[in-house]
Amino acid sequence: MNFELSDEEKLIQQTARDFADRVLAPRADEFDRAGDIARDILTQMAELGFMGMLAPEAYGGSGLNNFCLSLVQMEINRACASTGVTMSVHNSLMQSPLIAFGTEAQKRRYLPKLTRAEWIGAYSLSEPGSGSDAGALAATASREGDAYVLNGTKNFVTNGGTADLFIVFARTHPDRELKTKGISAILVERTTPGLRVGKHESKLGIRGSTTVELSFQDCRVPAENVLGEENQGFKIAMHTLDGGRIGIASQAVGLTQACLDASIKYAKERRQFDRPLGEFQAIQWKLANLATDLQAARWLTLSAARLRDQGQPHTMEASMAKLFAADMVNRHASEAVQIHGGVGYVREFRVERYFRDAKITEIYEGTSEIQRMVIARHLLK
Ligand code: CAA
Repeated sequence: MNFELSDEEKLIQQTARDFADRVLAPRADEFDRAGDIARDILTQMAELGFMGMLAPEAYGGSGLNNFCLSLVQMEINRACASTGVTMSVHNSLMQSPLIAFGTEAQKRRYLPKLTRAEWIGAYSLSEPGSGSDAGALAATASREGDAYVLNGTKNFVTNGGTADLFIVFARTHPDRELKTKGISAILVERTTPGLRVGKHESKLGIRGSTTVELSFQDCRVPAENVLGEENQGFKIAMHTLDGGRIGIASQAVGLTQACLDASIKYAKERRQFDRPLGEFQAIQWKLANLATDLQAARWLTLSAARLRDQGQPHTMEASMAKLFAADMVNRHASEAVQIHGGVGYVREFRVERYFRDAKITEIYEGTSEIQRMVIARHLLK
């Protein structure tokens, strides 16, 4: 596979790189401390087309593809992983299924607001009793006339603090034995009576992105808000996560690039035993391993994105990219702290944030154990 970028792709990548360096990086520590991303950042990203990358131009989007989305996410995450995941959920977990499965009316109603970042999107699958076993979810959406009535509790909803629109997965079939075959995807606006945004989680990393609990109590949603066919929501959830996992792999690549950049700079500046650190073989080998794994992860990620754009099977490849990249960033963020020594452990040096931000890539959008399960099932089927 050839990753020679076209002129347009180079321009998109360079635009994201400039924005990341000039605007985002100087404010990332502030977002981490405040536990929130300043809204003007998302507006500026929308002006650059980054908040509607997959949406057709007719709905205000950039009309681009997953490959370009991945290129941009790698740059944004290099500067700020909290902004990176906000963008990822907004594009891949909210807009991608809306574009693929939404009715014309749903697209017209929601996409223009989302692409302009007037509204932020969130994806709500996990529950206190069903994380990795997503098909065991218990929230219900019972049909009553021209509405669905939602009841239940969701948790770990990324973007939930600020989201205006949620894609919620709930049981629409009364027979729970149907498991994955009785679930639907429903679009729920934040202001719908009966929807309550609950506890905000205090997290180890990606602290600028909000993660909340949601509860639904007799929450009536118009029946026309079902996304795709009734009881087909689990497949929508999985198809959506195939794209989201490429986004998280891109996040891990961006974070690892940040670790490499910081470590090279420090290895050149810091002197011990009358030499820069970079003259010690112990440090050189860490940098060489880091850069080699980074290249491999970048290619795995971009090749999965290409497959998705070509409409080819990519479930296994998306899981491979996420598994490899998440493992890589955790090993190398730890090494980046090690290269920095004592200063790597304190807030003033950014590798401390990269180290904290890295961990989540092994957990959300399917843990590394789940990615291995997906890969192995494909190998053995
Ligand atoms: N695309 C389309 N359809 C798919 C699919 C895919 N990638 N994967 C599975 N399906 C279909 C299957 O073909 C099957 O269809 P049939 O019933 O017609 O045969 C159906 O879905 C059920 O599939 P499985 O039998 O494989 O389902 P399972 O119960 O064994 O679960 C799983 C599979 C892969 C373990 C799944 O539960 C899973 O991915 N778990 C992890 C959940 C997860 O990633 N959660 C993330 C939460 S969201 C988040 O993290 C966002 C955030 O904060 C940023």
